[in-house]
Amino acid sequence: MHKATLPILAIALFTVPAAHAGPKHGEKWVIGMSQCNLGEPWRVQMNADIRRAAEAHPELQVVFKDAQNDTLRQRSQIEEFIDADVDLLVVSPKEAAPLTPPVAAAFRRAIPVIVLDRKVLGDEFTQFIGADNQRIGRAAGEWAVRRLLSLPRVRAGGRARIVELTGLMTSTPGQDRLAGFHAALKGQPVDIVFSADTQWLEPRAREEMESALAVNPVIDLVYAHNDPAAHGAYLAAKAAERDRDIVFVGIDGLPQEGQVYVRQGLLAASFEYPTGGREAVETALRILRGESVPKRVTLNSRFFTSENVVVGGEWLP
Ligand code: FRU
Repeated sequence: MHKATLPILAIALFTVPAAHAGPKHGEKWVIGMSQCNLGEPWRVQMNADIRRAAEAHPELQVVFKDAQNDTLRQRSQIEEFIDADVDLLVVSPKEAAPLTPPVAAAFRRAIPVIVLDRKVLGDEFTQFIGADNQRIGRAAGEWAVRRLLSLPRVRAGGRARIVELTGLMTSTPGQDRLAGFHAALKGQPVDIVFSADTQWLEPRAREEMESALAVNPVIDLVYAHNDPAAHGAYLAAKAAERDRDIVFVGIDGLPQEGQVYVRQGLLAASFEYPTGGREAVETALRILRGESVPKRVTLNSRFFTSENVVVGGEWLP
């Protein structure tokens, strides 16, 4: 049906800028993908998921830029995509506040923007895709409490001692994974005895865990906001010959990372954080074809433990 014949109401329901009749440049739609860094396996996986999904659609060309964990570089790379007038932008931002203006600028220039994984502020984007980090944090907290309540010291009326190694706290997954976890701990006989911002980085987590070990003769559990940080903490504890006294819990659950750590017994649990790469390409196609899309898409997650990893994990409650 031609747009002019659509009822007014249907036009008003469109949540995306009007799609172009075809690609702006040449034969293919050009999608600019702004990735905040490629230092962690999870982000390499996100780009691979996007590449694989896009390969099935010869009408798409994806141009990747890696900001190398530098917010200013990511801002200018988004601006470069705007100047190049790409057909659509996918952004996985390093931090919320400083990346809000360039995302909003693209959106105002009628370039559809899909924000993936970490959020920006406000709602000047076309669609946000990500898993529910509060829910993941809460599930990790409930799992940790169940595990800690079975400790003899806690059963005898004592309190369990937790180290929390957070992600970058200016990024929304760090904030949400903390909030969900803390909500699950309310009223339980557990204390967070040490907390530090690892900025999502394994070497930083290892250093912070060395400090935690130095000042805490008893640590029962480490809750790390991602699997690289959980692994860094494990290595620090192993070097101090304390790894067997501590339960390690991480987030990401990649088959080649967190799930392997669980199979090897280094992590007791890893909570899946899907990359959303395939879903971003599917949404991009819908937007480019002129379809309206929902403002938010929430991805489901599983969790992996030594009991369920062989059967592909379990969905979060
Ligand atoms: C990778 C990463 C993941 C984490 C995600 C959160 O950079 O730190 O490990 O789950 O970002 O945005």
